[in-house]
Amino acid sequence: MINRRNFIAQSAIGITGATFANACQTAQTVSVGEPTVLSTWNNIKANEAAWQIISKGGRALDAVENGAKIPEADPNDQSVGYGGLPDRNGNVTLDACIMDEMGNAGSVCYLQHIKHPIAVARKVMELTPHVLLAGDGALDFALAQGFQKENLLTDKSKQDWEEWLKTANYQPKINVEMHDTIGIVALDQSGNLSGACTTSGLGYKMQGRVGDSPIIGAGLFVDNEVGAATSTGLGEAVLKTLGSFLVVELMRQGATPQQACEEAVMRIVRKQKNYRDFQVGYLALSKSGEIGAFSIQPGFVYAVTKGGTTQVLDGKAYL
Ligand code: GLY
Repeated sequence: MINRRNFIAQSAIGITGATFANACQTAQTVSVGEPTVLSTWNNIKANEAAWQIISKGGRALDAVENGAKIPEADPNDQSVGYGGLPDRNGNVTLDACIMDEMGNAGSVCYLQHIKHPIAVARKVMELTPHVLLAGDGALDFALAQGFQKENLLTDKSKQDWEEWLKTANYQPKINVEMHDTIGIVALDQSGNLSGACTTSGLGYKMQGRVGDSPIIGAGLFVDNEVGAATSTGLGEAVLKTLGSFLVVELMRQGATPQQACEEAVMRIVRKQKNYRDFQVGYLALSKSGEIGAFSIQPGFVYAVTKGGTTQVLDGKAYL
């Protein structure tokens, strides 16, 4: 039901009541855009790995999984996969999710000892009747699928954690060395969208903490009729506003990807008083290949690949 307040909110981003009514039923027909890979931060190699699949006519789902595996395997990326910073008890715990063009979804959270949680998330999606497996259950499932159990805590991350323990002063960090959670979305040559999101979560988080990245609609959402969105930054802020779902639904209602990302950030700014203390960034890719990027703080960069060329661009920011 549209009350006056809703209508004004929609009008603020240029949506009329008539288009809203249409949009609630189904997305309007849009022309499919050129193949694109879009990822958070300066994940150039991830985009290139994804593009290898897209350029050969492969599926966006394979592309985003391939792309997400790059930072997962990189020991120097301390916010994703192998080499990720541990929780305050020294455990590296990983969160990841994936969505395909049919709206299928799979995810894992609080997964330990497996280098590629995104690949486990895909197995959850394709081989189980469930969407999300957690902790030991996710690990048992991964091992049963042939994944290897590994120590993911590198010497560098162990040293950093031991240093942190001296004060144990917990502060979410903003724009960690131009990388953080990777969210990656892609549009393939068949006009299909998919997305993946993977992280080791906040460094020195409480044991058991799970962020936005494995939660469908928070860290990632894909609707093949409309577009795809993903997030990076402080997961708690994204979880409270179900940001990626919001971005896609705003696009469904007629917002451009840029308008949708800006409105999702503004929901956080309006509702969470301490927004100056943390970062959240959103990326969006529409079915027509249009891109949006917006964050609370400056410094949010993203990688976009079209026609085989990858650029790292600065997203606009609220502050
Ligand atoms: N966005 C990643 C996390 O908060 O865990």
